[in-house]
Amino acid sequence: MKIITIDSLTTLLDRHGFDNFLLDLMQALRRDFGRWESFTKMPRPAMHVPGGVLELMPICDNEQYYTYKYVNCHPKNPSIGQQTVVATGQLSRIDTGYPLLFSEMTILTALRTAATSALATDLMARQDAHTLGLIGTGAQSEFQVRGVKLVRDIREIRYFDTDPKAMDKFEKNMASVALKLVRCKNAQEATIGADIITVCTACKAHVDVIKNEWVFAGVHINALGGDTIGKTELEATILPRCRIVVEYFDQSIIEGEIQRLSKAKAKKLVYAELHELTTGSKKGREDDREITLFDSVGIALEDYSALRLTYELAEKCGIGDEFLMTPKINDPKDLLAAIYKGGDFV
Ligand SMILES: NC(=O)c1ccc[n+]([C@@H]2O[C@H](COP(=O)([O-])OP(=O)(O)OC[C@H]3O[C@@H](n4cnc5c(N)ncnc54)[C@H](O)[C@@H]3O)[C@@H](O)[C@H]2O)c1
Repeated sequence: MKIITIDSLTTLLDRHGFDNFLLDLMQALRRDFGRWESFTKMPRPAMHVPGGVLELMPICDNEQYYTYKYVNCHPKNPSIGQQTVVATGQLSRIDTGYPLLFSEMTILTALRTAATSALATDLMARQDAHTLGLIGTGAQSEFQVRGVKLVRDIREIRYFDTDPKAMDKFEKNMASVALKLVRCKNAQEATIGADIITVCTACKAHVDVIKNEWVFAGVHINALGGDTIGKTELEATILPRCRIVVEYFDQSIIEGEIQRLSKAKAKKLVYAELHELTTGSKKGREDDREITLFDSVGIALEDYSALRLTYELAEKCGIGDEFLMTPKINDPKDLLAAIYKGGDFV
């Protein structure tokens, strides 16, 4: 079984190129969203614990692979020097059930979330979008910027975080990127004048991070941080004004911004699931005045695409370590032989 550690993923990204990986992942997402019906999927089971949530995200393509990701969200972790979101994941073959790959997925989650936002932005934002308003400059933020920059000619970023140190870190990381960086005093200043708004804050509550009165005609919103029960970022009155696209209605109604609506109302208000846009059966935007919202929660299909791409690239480039994680025995019924090397069995 191949193990992809942070070190081996770093090597892979180094060799393949960060933007190339994001672009390949966007292509893989298009392919996999495009065969939506061929996956066995389910809303992720979530276990809520004091201070956070623990989630398991399984999916099966019914041809070749099964994947799952373990992920958490503990918004107060940074106060004890730990990350809000960490993850690991596995890819197995379905014909025998044997695992092929076990991978770090903290970085892969940031990459796949950025690639998914980029895909949605490409399908939904105005072509002439040049200014990005970014609320929340934590772990996901630079990845999000890199993704959106691949699909629109972003020239200015207006950003705000309640933690000034997170903004300092963002500035340092973005210093070499040819972009006008505008540090804002609050979320209102960051959103007004933005063509695209990306919200990626972490707080386990219904917080009106973005107020209705700051949202103007033509804006596209990527809302990422509303991704579990009782955790949203948009003032609820924004929703009826938007063309809303979700990844997977059955999961989004539990976890997304649309959890604030009744199921019947959400059914009426949600315009499409993302796969309907990737296949072209529905349009992401009607005109330049429409407000569009990608209400993202993160689904297992995105992790499937990321794990599969990582596996294929790692195999091609000979990256990753092989470890014996399943017994190697001559007689498959003689499991004892894997651990017992002779003498009497007592
Ligand atoms: N939709 C998805 O697929 C997906 C994937 C990964 C993470 N997420 C979510 O994205 C969010 C961000 O994740 P992260 O790893 O960057 O977390 P993080 O803790 O590293 O960063 C979050 C930042 O938001 C800031 N913040 C909190 N409340 C704020 C507010 N009201 N206004 C402005 N800033 C505020 C914090 O100071 C922090 O810097 C989390 O809620 C996470 O659950 C979603």
